[in-house]
Amino acid sequence: MKTVKIHRIEEECKDIKTFTFNLSNLQSNNSQSNNSQSNNSQSNNSQSNQEHIHPLPGQFVMVWIPGVDEIPMSVSDYDEKGNWSITVKKVGNATEALHNLAVGDYIGVRGPFGNSFSIPTHHKKALFLIGGGIGMAPLKLLAKEFLKHELSFSIIEGAKENAEILYEKDFESLSHHSSTIFYCTDDGSYGKKGFASDIFIEHLKNYSKEDLSDAYVYTCGPEKMMFEIFKICEQRLIPLEASLERMMRCGCGLCGLCALDPLGLLVCKDGPVFTSETLRKLEDFGSYKRDFTGNKLKI
Ligand SMILES: Cc1cc2nc3c(=O)[nH]c(=O)nc-3n(C[C@H](O)[C@H](O)[C@H](O)COP(=O)(O)OP(=O)(O)OC[C@H]3O[C@@H](n4cnc5c(N)ncnc54)[C@H](O)[C@@H]3O)c2cc1C
Ligand code: FES
Repeated sequence: MKTVKIHRIEEECKDIKTFTFNLSNLQSNNSQSNNSQSNNSQSNNSQSNQEHIHPLPGQFVMVWIPGVDEIPMSVSDYDEKGNWSITVKKVGNATEALHNLAVGDYIGVRGPFGNSFSIPTHHKKALFLIGGGIGMAPLKLLAKEFLKHELSFSIIEGAKENAEILYEKDFESLSHHSSTIFYCTDDGSYGKKGFASDIFIEHLKNYSKEDLSDAYVYTCGPEKMMFEIFKICEQRLIPLEASLERMMRCGCGLCGLCALDPLGLLVCKDGPVFTSETLRKLEDFGSYKRDFTGNKLKI
C-alpha cells in the first residue's frame, strides 16, 4: 500500500467528489500492480515503462481511509505526471469519511487491480458508452482513451435527477472530436426523461442493420441498468463489455467475497469488466450479489 497526500478535491455534483493524488513513483516491481488478469489484450500494458504504472480504463484501486475502512474505487482519470483521480459517491461510512477529508490529508492506495475495457483496433460504425450515476467514473477514463485513439463514440449518461449529472464540463468538448453525449434523467429534470436503456433503444433506430453489425457497447452503472442494456444488445447481436460491482475485501483474488456463480469468477481479479460471452454464463449477473458475510441477496 502506498500512502499519498490528496492534492485536489473537486465537488462534481450532489454527494459526489473527485479526489486527486500523485502516484508518480509507483514502481512497476510492486507485486500488487501485476494482478491484472485481463481478458483484454491491452491490460498487459498497465505499465508504460519500468518506472511508472498507468491505470487502464476499468481498473480500480483499493483506497484506505485511515481508521475507517478500505474500499474499491475505479480510476476516473490520470495524467502523465502520475496524478490519479477517483470519483466518490457518498453512500456510507467509508465514503462519508473520505468526503470529510481535505486537501493535504493522507489516504492509502493499493493497485491498480483488475482487468480493463478493451480499446477497438479500428473505427466502429456505432460505439456506445452507457453509464448510470457513479458508473460514469470508469467510462470517463475510457472516453479519454478513445479520444487519444481518435475514435468517435456516443455517450449515454443516465442519472436520477439534474443534480446528479456528472462530468458535464469534461464532456463539453466532445463534439469537436465528432463524438456526442446524450443525457437522460429518471424525472426528466435534465436531458430526456427516461432510463439510459430507453434512450439507447431510441438511438439504435438511427443505425442501419449494416452499421449495427459493427457496433460495440461499454456499460457501467446500476446492475439492473446494465442487465437491460445487455438484453438489448443480445437481441441485436451487439457485443458488450460491462463493469460489475461486488462487495470486496482483499481486492486481489484472496478472500473469494466477490465470486460470481456458477463459474466462480472473481470480480476483483477476472473482472471487473466482463464481455457478453462471459455474462451469458453468469447466473448472478442481474440477479444476485453477496453481502459482507457472503450471503446472497437479490439485486
Ligand atoms: C470495482 C469497483 C469499483 C468501484 N468504483 C467506485 C467509484 O468509482 N466510485 C464510487 O463512489 N464507488 C465505487 N464503488 C463502490 C464503492 O466501493 C462503495 O460504494 C463503497 O465501498 C461503500 O462504502 P461505505 O462504507 O461508504 O458504504 P457502506 O455503508 O459499506 O455501504 C453502502 C453501500 O455500498 C455498497 N458497498 C459497500 N462496501 C462495498 C464494497 N467493498 N464493494 C462494493 N460495494 C460496496 C453496499 O452494497 C451498500 O449498498 C466501486 C466498487 C467496486 C467493486
Ligand atoms: S475481493 Fe477478495 S477475492 Fe475479490
